[in-house]
Amino acid sequence: MSQTNHLSSIFLSVVVLLFVESNVSVSAISVEKYLTLTLSQKTALDEFRHRVEPMLKDNYMKQDAYLIQWLRGARKFDINAATEMLRMNLKWRKENAIDNMRNEDWTDMLQDFHTTIDTYDRTGRPIAVIDINDWDIRRSVIQGKGKRVMRYIMSRVENITGQAYERQEKGMNVTQVVVLANAEGFNVIQHACPLCLPLWIQFIQYIESYYPEALDELIIINAPPTIQVVLEAIKPFLTKTTSDGIRIFNPNKAKWMEYLDAKMSREERRKPYGGTKPPFDFSR
Ligand SMILES: *[C@@H]1O[C@H](CO)[C@@H](O)[C@H](O)[C@H]1NC(C)=O
Ligand SMILES: *[C@@H]1O[C@H](CO)[C@@H](O)[C@H](O)[C@H]1NC(C)=O
Repeated sequence: MSQTNHLSSIFLSVVVLLFVESNVSVSAISVEKYLTLTLSQKTALDEFRHRVEPMLKDNYMKQDAYLIQWLRGARKFDINAATEMLRMNLKWRKENAIDNMRNEDWTDMLQDFHTTIDTYDRTGRPIAVIDINDWDIRRSVIQGKGKRVMRYIMSRVENITGQAYERQEKGMNVTQVVVLANAEGFNVIQHACPLCLPLWIQFIQYIESYYPEALDELIIINAPPTIQVVLEAIKPFLTKTTSDGIRIFNPNKAKWMEYLDAKMSREERRKPYGGTKPPFDFSR
C-alpha cells in the first residue's frame, strides 16, 4: 500500500471530528478538585507516602501534589498499582539519566523545534507553547535524529513539570501544566508521515506512564481537519484524563480567542495566539 493510500484509509476511518463547539468553560480539573481528597483517599495517600518515601530522593517528589498523581486516574487510589507505577518511573528516570536533561546542550534543537515555556495561565500553571509549523519531524526522522528529537521533547516536558513542582514548593497551588499549540501550517507529510507517527505514539506512552495527571489541557488552535490523522493514531494510547483535556479549535479566531482569553491573559500570549507579549528570540 502506498503512503497516500494508507493515509486516505485513515481519513476514511475518521468518523467524529473533535472540533470544540461553543464550549467556553475553562479547565479540565481545578486545583481544588485535584488536591481535595476524601477521608479514605487521604488515608491512602498517607499509606502510600509511608511506603514509597524511602525510594524518593528529590524534595519535589515528597510533595502531596506529586504523590497524588500516581494515585489518581486509572489507579483509583489503589496503593499497589500506584507504587508499581512510581517504581517503574524511578527506574526509567535512572536508566535514561532524566535528571541530567536540564544540563544537556540543546542548541542544535532550539532552532528547529520552537517551544517556549515562559508564560503562565490565570491560575499560575506553566504553558508550553509549540509552533507546529516549525517542527519538521519527518526530516529529523529521515536524518536519523528521531531519538534526539524525542529526548529534546522529553527535556521540555521535564522543564515544564519542573516549573510546576518549583511553584508547588513555593506554596503556589500549581499541580498541572498547559500545552498550547498553533497548528497553522500543519501538514500531513511533515508532521504525520508514517515514520513520524511512531514518535507521537511513543511520546504519548511516555506521558501516560511517567507524567500521569500532569496535563491540565492541550489546546490546539488553527487546526486543519487533517490533524485528525495524528489524533486517530494516538487515541488508543490516551487515558481518559488526557483525552478529556484536549481542545481543538479550527482557524475561526473568534472562537479560540474567547477560550484563550478566559484561560490566560493577553500579556501571557504572543501575537500568533492573540496576545501582546513580545516575540521570543530563538537565536539566543
Ligand atoms: C491552595 O488550595 C488549597 C485547597 O483548595 C487551599 O486550601 C489553599 O488556601 C490554596 N493556597 C493558596 C496559596 O492559594
Ligand atoms: C526551564 O528552562 C529555562 C530556560 O532554559 C531555565 O531557565 C529554567 O531553569 C528551566 N526550569 C526547569 C525547572 O528546568
